[in-house]
Amino acid sequence: MTNTFVRACALDELEEDTPKRVELEGVPIALVRTEGEVFAVNDICSHANVSLSEGEVEDCQIECWLHGSSFDLRTGKPSGLPATRPVPVYPVKIEGDDVLVSVTQES
Ligand code: FES
Repeated sequence: MTNTFVRACALDELEEDTPKRVELEGVPIALVRTEGEVFAVNDICSHANVSLSEGEVEDCQIECWLHGSSFDLRTGKPSGLPATRPVPVYPVKIEGDDVLVSVTQES
């Protein structure tokens, strides 16, 4: 299996702790720059159809603004109810000034 990375945005378009929504190959992604790293998680809350990129970032978690579940940016796992399922996370690579994300895996 190899990851195919596509360019999501320039690194300096990402402000610390301010999520940015991008769409890559039809997949909505919330990109978050925090604690010196960039993370990519699926932008749709696993509880209902709500954009996580409109929520707040704290302690490497992104909070769903509707009911307050927070998702770990490293694993996608929710820290508490009402969400019980993780959101998908995607590998991120920084190349020069570009942020690359892999939303697809090819075998
Ligand atoms: S829609 Fe996100 S926690 Fe309910």
